[in-house]
Amino acid sequence: MDNIFVPSIKIAKKVEQEFGAPVYLTNVETLKNRIQKMQKNFSWENTKIFYALKANYNPEILKTLKNAGLYGVDAVSPFEIELAKRSGFLPSQIIFTASNPSSEELEFAHKNGVLLNLGSLSEIERFGRLFPSTKVSLRINPESGTGEDKKMNTGGKDSKFGINVSQIQKAKELIDKYKLVLVGLHFHVGSGFYEAQVFKKALEDNAKIALLFENLEFIDVGGGYGVRYKLNEKEIDLKRFSVEVTPILEKLSKEFGKTIELRLEPGKFLVAESTVLLAKITTIKTNGDKKYVGLNTGLNHLIRPSYYGSYHEIINISNPKGKKQKVDIVGNICESGDVFGRERELPEPREGDLVAICTAGGYGASMGSNYNLRPLPAEVLLEKNNELKLVRKRLNFEELLNGLGYKI
Ligand code: LLP
Repeated sequence: MDNIFVPSIKIAKKVEQEFGAPVYLTNVETLKNRIQKMQKNFSWENTKIFYALKANYNPEILKTLKNAGLYGVDAVSPFEIELAKRSGFLPSQIIFTASNPSSEELEFAHKNGVLLNLGSLSEIERFGRLFPSTKVSLRINPESGTGEDKKMNTGGKDSKFGINVSQIQKAKELIDKYKLVLVGLHFHVGSGFYEAQVFKKALEDNAKIALLFENLEFIDVGGGYGVRYKLNEKEIDLKRFSVEVTPILEKLSKEFGKTIELRLEPGKFLVAESTVLLAKITTIKTNGDKKYVGLNTGLNHLIRPSYYGSYHEIINISNPKGKKQKVDIVGNICESGDVFGRERELPEPREGDLVAICTAGGYGASMGSNYNLRPLPAEVLLEKNNELKLVRKRLNFEELLNGLGYKI
């Protein structure tokens, strides 16, 4: 059975010796397995996967996914478009789904030949004025959303994303006014769901809206497919999503007299489980009733536990057979919220032990920062025959300051 990636003690030690810690370590096999799994499970004849690059924009990871069969990229900023292009994706293989883009950004995407997913009446108006008679897609705000945490729910009438269903008529008027050609409808219910109900309802609503637009080519159902955070956890059943999608797309295809394309925009699903953040225990201390295990990494390298309250499995790689102790695992950043896990049962932690924080490949490095002037970790790929490849170095003092635009 394939599982979330956890390196062996031998590999972890080798990585630490060669590249130091903290370090992000990604298993290439897991990356390949994820993209293939998604392709296999969605059986609609015209399905295209657009990777949500924001989850992890390491160019080597993007290249690995591309070589393993990834079709395209969902970009949210001009630089993401630029990176996708320089990584060999054609403009037709990139879609731009920005949140509140400026007119300059709309222009940048269009001039690069990239289709835009417009998410507000304002964007339709501004884009229509700039580029009448061109193709567009609309991001519809689903009437309800879902996700791992309320900060990851991107639907519901008060959400900041997309065009509310109640505004569709107005959107159509603007589309007609500027002779825009609507080729796609898009929705994204949220990030980290495991059940299909909310997703299915949003798709049904989009299928109804689709009938208003005669040039429709695709429906983009967004990303959000849940991942595993614990060892031996059951995987999301992607087949179920495919089963829900098929009759809706069949019906729509019949109505349009052509096969409507299905677009998927997974981020986390493709990258999260492939990667661990390897860190070292620097300090063991007791304060009051608490035993703290302090690591040489913090919320600047992986913000998910403190920002969303996400659970990430933490494994004592160096002492797997040690007697279990109940501890709080915390970081080295000067913030009380810099906590990776509370009341975890960890095999006897010792200063100098290596720990792996799992499922860290999605929104780990990409949401990282240099807060407290601690540089981001290096990123390393574990390739075939256990070969290691450095795909981002950890910056030294001069490089970091200069990279930030400061002169030193
Ligand atoms: N498409 C759109 C329009 C999105 O807004 C997102 C994520 C995705 C696709 C990809 O979603 P995914 O498959 O990765 O769940 N930082 C959070 C997740 C926020 C995602 C925002 N939008 C995290 O750490 O889990």
